[in-house]
Amino acid sequence: MKQPKRYTITAALPYTNGPIHIGHLAGVYVPADIYARYKRLTGHDVAFICGSDEHGVPITIKAKKEGVSPQDIVDKYHAIIKQSFEDFGITFDNYSRTTAKTHHETASAFFKTLHGKGEFIEEVSEQLYDAEANQFLADRFVIGTCPKCGNEESYGDQCEKCGTSHNATDLINPKSAITGNTPSLKETKHWFLPLDKHEDFLKQWILKDHKSDWKSNVYGQCKSWIDDGLRPRAVTRDLDWGIPVPVDGGEGKVLYVWFDAPIGYISATKEWAAREGKDWEPYWKNKDTKLLHFIGKDNIVFHCIIFPAMLKAEGSYILPDNVPANEFLNLEGNKLSTSKNWAVWLPEYLKDFPDKQDVLRYALTANAPESKDNDFTWKDFQARNNNELVAIFGNFINRVVVLTNKYYDGVVPEPSNFYEIDNETLKTLKTYPEVISNSLERYRFREAGQELMNLARLGNKYLADEEPWKVIKQDESRTQTIMFVALQIASALATLSEPFLPFSSIKLKTILNITQGEIVTTWEEVSTKNTLLPAGHKIGKAELLFSKIEDQDIQTQLDKLQATKKANETENKAIEPQKETINFEDFTKLDIRVGTIIEAEKMPKAKKLLVLKVDTGIDTRTIVSGIAESFSAEEVIGKQVTVLVNLAPRKLRGIESEGMILMTEAEDGKLVFVNPDTTTTLKTVSNGLHIS
Ligand code: MF3
Ligand code: ZN
Repeated sequence: MKQPKRYTITAALPYTNGPIHIGHLAGVYVPADIYARYKRLTGHDVAFICGSDEHGVPITIKAKKEGVSPQDIVDKYHAIIKQSFEDFGITFDNYSRTTAKTHHETASAFFKTLHGKGEFIEEVSEQLYDAEANQFLADRFVIGTCPKCGNEESYGDQCEKCGTSHNATDLINPKSAITGNTPSLKETKHWFLPLDKHEDFLKQWILKDHKSDWKSNVYGQCKSWIDDGLRPRAVTRDLDWGIPVPVDGGEGKVLYVWFDAPIGYISATKEWAAREGKDWEPYWKNKDTKLLHFIGKDNIVFHCIIFPAMLKAEGSYILPDNVPANEFLNLEGNKLSTSKNWAVWLPEYLKDFPDKQDVLRYALTANAPESKDNDFTWKDFQARNNNELVAIFGNFINRVVVLTNKYYDGVVPEPSNFYEIDNETLKTLKTYPEVISNSLERYRFREAGQELMNLARLGNKYLADEEPWKVIKQDESRTQTIMFVALQIASALATLSEPFLPFSSIKLKTILNITQGEIVTTWEEVSTKNTLLPAGHKIGKAELLFSKIEDQDIQTQLDKLQATKKANETENKAIEPQKETINFEDFTKLDIRVGTIIEAEKMPKAKKLLVLKVDTGIDTRTIVSGIAESFSAEEVIGKQVTVLVNLAPRKLRGIESEGMILMTEAEDGKLVFVNPDTTTTLKTVSNGLHIS
């Protein structure tokens, strides 16, 4: 066996302002868990660390909205998030939280050390201030246009569109997220981390040392920031929720959430080590420890530039070996969004699919946004389950277990002569630990998951080719060999599936009766041992590992999303109140007739306008109509419409419009014709407003 290594594996601390959804799972926690499980299985010393990110503006905003304290918010969601991780088999060695005492102490001490070493610039500067709310506007309290990409909804500290991290005063046209006011500037003192001072180090460490082993999406983002020039970043804030600034002059100020949160990885490691009676320091200070940060792409700058600069400035810590960040997952073609409720929340998923944690893990891995943003669709989820987990993996296991019970009363048979196909199959089986490892070592989880499925495919094909159910009628001893080989594949699947499908792996081990003792196979033994399941070993009864997902179940999910879409649309479109009452006299002044549109063309350089020729029954006249965003010129020609003919003529872009086509607006904002109730399609003669 290879020399065991020490791994400190961290997964981004989720903000504790809501439950977590499939995007979090796909981008960060499933790959991190697969990796941590795989490292443990291959005999390494692993600390898999996470916790709740409980400071920061998103939490205060949520608390304000709900009229409760920030502490109430984090207590509520910390419990919910922690439960979701357990439910989905994410095996953190410690899931801590940044409101923990150890964390406050660790982060304060870290700040003091940097302060003591003169690593900060202390400076009074003008910061955005909302006089009405009586508060400085940092981070998510301010929204404005990103100076880099032009996104109009960038936050003060980071643009979610292009990922750039900036200072709030860099925003163009900033607005307070609290009152909507344009902020003023007010002087205040803060501590800045001079990133420019670390530029040479960052250039060497990222652009040279890690040019070839970091993922290209991560490397590319880092390079672009470094090329743009690094500037001092404030690491303190004028807020009242967070870790108090622990030095003179820091009263009433707290640490910037992105200063304290990554230190949370260290605090959580300390907490874990204390509980386990271990020393935490090797996990953060020994050069032979591999530190890995699993994150989403919006966290890259913090984990690749700012946190490493902090660790370097502190002086006693190791730096991350790799930061395998993922891109974003979309849902049915749209960006996942907490505020628009466009998400599949884990607690809700579990309610609908109570025993299908592995299915989600598998589908998200198969579709992981590894090198580009990717889309999660319910159809694909169903297909991954029905066509792969059920039809390939589950089907293979079921056939092996059912036949072993049927022919041999559940006892692994003694093989006789191995044919070439048997030796070939067993030889191929032995390559799988390395094949899957190779993918995992390069953080290619999609590929790794598919390789696992290929092993099940190998088993399925072997059975289909060798047909033990036919051979048994002529050749008992040949059948024994076939079943023996198939059982070896089943055992290998039980071991190699553990990182990906932990629940099914346990189930399979139970079915094969290999949960404890000699018979337990390690990852490496799948390639080194000649026999995984020896003749004479008794397995258990068949039990389905996976079950089919019906169209109806998928439709229910799609309907839910449709309802969300509808709700968002109505929320965005306030229904206009009824206008002032008019009297009958007013009404009878309108001369409304049925007309036919005989010509239509788009008004040049006007997005909304069509120029129509309308036969009103009195005459043919020109009407300029603002319907071009809802209808094309071609589709309205020949259409019968309701026309207000005695509206005073008006010039629109130089063309005189003599009347108005009556339209109203549907729920979704699309214009609809007030259609005359007639089926006559040719010339219509109408007689004005008819009152009855
Ligand atoms: N809470 C952040 C987010 O959800 C991630 C924090 S990661 C840590 O984007 F490094 F700061 F811990
Ligand atoms: Zn931007």
